[in-house]
Formats: sequence, structure tokens, C-alpha cells
Amino acid sequence: MATTTIGIGGDKRWSLVGTTALITGGTRGIGVGIVEELAGFGASIYTCWRSQKDLDQRLQEWKSKGYVVSGSVCDLQSPSQRDQLMKSVASEFCGNLNILVNNAGTIVVKETTEFTAQDFSSITKSIRNWEHCVHFFSSWCCSFPD
Ligand SMILES: NC(=O)c1ccc[n+]([C@@H]2O[C@H](COP(=O)([O-])OP(=O)(O)OC[C@H]3O[C@@H](n4cnc5c(N)ncnc54)[C@H](OP(=O)(O)O)[C@@H]3O)[C@@H](O)[C@H]2O)c1
Repeated sequence: MATTTIGIGGDKRWSLVGTTALITGGTRGIGVGIVEELAGFGASIYTCWRSQKDLDQRLQEWKSKGYVVSGSVCDLQSPSQRDQLMKSVASEFCGNLNILVNNAGTIVVKETTEFTAQDFSSITKSIRNWEHCVHFFSSWCCSFPD
């Protein structure tokens, strides 16, 4: 008889047991929700953000909830740190990455007329997620051409 594998959330319709996911910016805001949702369905998660202290605290919390989450500090605006991130992910997941959620980014919530040039600059820098995705993909394909 076939067995049904379910996530630790207990929902039999969905299971991500045995899958791996990289979720950027997973330790605050929407990213926390994505990490906990996918981890709840049994996926193994790798996440990143920019502060080691906050990362360690979050990893400890997730461990106590039974989620399989690891991570490292990475400023995604730095190409060399993105390369290092992909190496760490490859090492953690033995070269097998199923899901990428490139969530990291910044929004500035203000009246349009109150936006400064610096606000626009910080937003346009942070929302180049597509560029990060292309970099992740090409870096991964170079390491794992098959
Ligand atoms: N909240 C909204 O209403 C809304 C609306 C539209 C789109 N979005 C998008 O949804 C995503 C998440 O939004 P949110 O509201 O959850 O944002 P948030 O609370 O500010 O969290 C953003 C996360 O991304 C990380 N991050 C930002 N820049 C980073 C960088 N250069 N390198 C590594 N990590 C970085 C942050 O960590 P550190 O800053 O500590 O590094 C944090 O973990 C963003 O891409 C945002 O543009 C949000």
C-alpha cells in the first residue's frame, strides 16, 4: 500500500517533504511567512539576509518549531556575495535546489510627493530581483550543467 508523505503542518493535500528551497530575505516581513509556510509543508529551507545576529536568532526560533532551516548572511546587491550564497546553498543541498523565492527587497511607504531621490535610489537598487535571479540561475547552471 502506498504511503502518503505529509508536511509537518499535517495537510495531506500538500507536501514538500524531500524538496529544497532558497528564500532570500526570509527572516523578516513576508519572507518569514514564506519560510514558515514552505518549511511547514516539509521543505528544507535556506535563507539569507544582511545581519548575522538576527539570522542566528531566527534560525534558533525555527529549530525550536521543528522547521529545517539554515542560512547565511548575504547582501544580494553584491555579485560576489551572491556567488558565495549559491556555493553555500549547493553545499547545503548537495547540488539539488527545487524552489527559488527571490523575496528580498525594500519598499518605502510614503506619499508620492514626499519621495526623495535617495528613496528612489534605494528602491531601484533593491528591486533588481530579476538581475539576482539571472545571476543565481547562471551561477547554478555553471556548477551543475546537467
Ligand atoms: N510589504 C508590501 O506591501 C510589499 C508590496 C509590494 C512588494 N513587496 C515586496 O515583497 C518583498 C518583501 O517585502 P517585505 O514587506 O516583507 O519587506 P521587509 O519586511 O523590509 O523584509 C525584506 C527582507 O529582505 C531582506 N533584504 C533587503 N535587502 C536585502 C539585500 N540587499 N540583501 C539581502 N537581504 C535583503 C531584509 O533583510 P535585511 O534588511 O535585514 O537585510 C528582509 O529580510 C520585497 O521584495 C518587497 O519589495 C512588498
